[in-house]
Amino acid sequence: MSRTKIVAGNWKLNGNKALVSAFNNAFTVAKLDNVSVMIFPPALYVNEFDCEQLIIGVQNVSEQQSGAFTGELSTLMLNDIDISHTLIGHSERRDLYHENNDIIAAKVVTALAANITPILCIGESLDIRTAGKVNEFIQAQLDSVIDAVGMTGLSKCILAYEPIWAIGTGVTATPAQAQEVHAFIRDYLGSIDASVAQSLSILYGGSVNAKTAPDLFAQPDIDGGLVGGASLKEEEFLTICQAANQRG
Ligand code: PGA
Repeated sequence: MSRTKIVAGNWKLNGNKALVSAFNNAFTVAKLDNVSVMIFPPALYVNEFDCEQLIIGVQNVSEQQSGAFTGELSTLMLNDIDISHTLIGHSERRDLYHENNDIIAAKVVTALAANITPILCIGESLDIRTAGKVNEFIQAQLDSVIDAVGMTGLSKCILAYEPIWAIGTGVTATPAQAQEVHAFIRDYLGSIDASVAQSLSILYGGSVNAKTAPDLFAQPDIDGGLVGGASLKEEEFLTICQAANQRG
């Protein structure tokens, strides 16, 4: 079955008004009918975008709705300013900010309750890969969310498989390595609910760039990309979007 291709740019703690403006200009004139393009800038900048072709989201959301949680953003606020998407469970949030599977599942529950679409990030470290435990690790990450929201809830998410060893390292997983894990994810979900597994978009992330994108996006279970470093250059990011557009 054909799933909509998605390319999402995660700016992390980067960017400024000039970069937003470069993206507004480049993507207002781009012809991209077969791909959904999303940008996740630092939250301060979400309202600086004015290009209809770009869906703007945030990089993280609290599992709390309001109150004494300094530095957090809530789904009530996202609803208030019409933000429809958030990353949840990026490996940097898991590692640097100690977000475990329980916290991430709680965030997915909160986001779905507010009709916000999570891009749920999962992926293994090099140690886990070397130990031959990729599948069981990924399965545990998925199970904690499925236990919380069921397959109906998961069907409202977008998944991003991002091997930690490939993030920001310049080492992209080979298309075959990425496809192998994407196929495992789809098979595993298919063993629970075949139709959700078939319709769910699974993005690959980890050093995706203009060179590696076409072969990754040609894989049958890779439905687009979550792009960090290469999403900070409008020309290169556009080239990546065009590669997905051709596959869409
Ligand atoms: P990268 O980041 O493309 O710079 O590896 C991807 C991500 O962290 O989402």
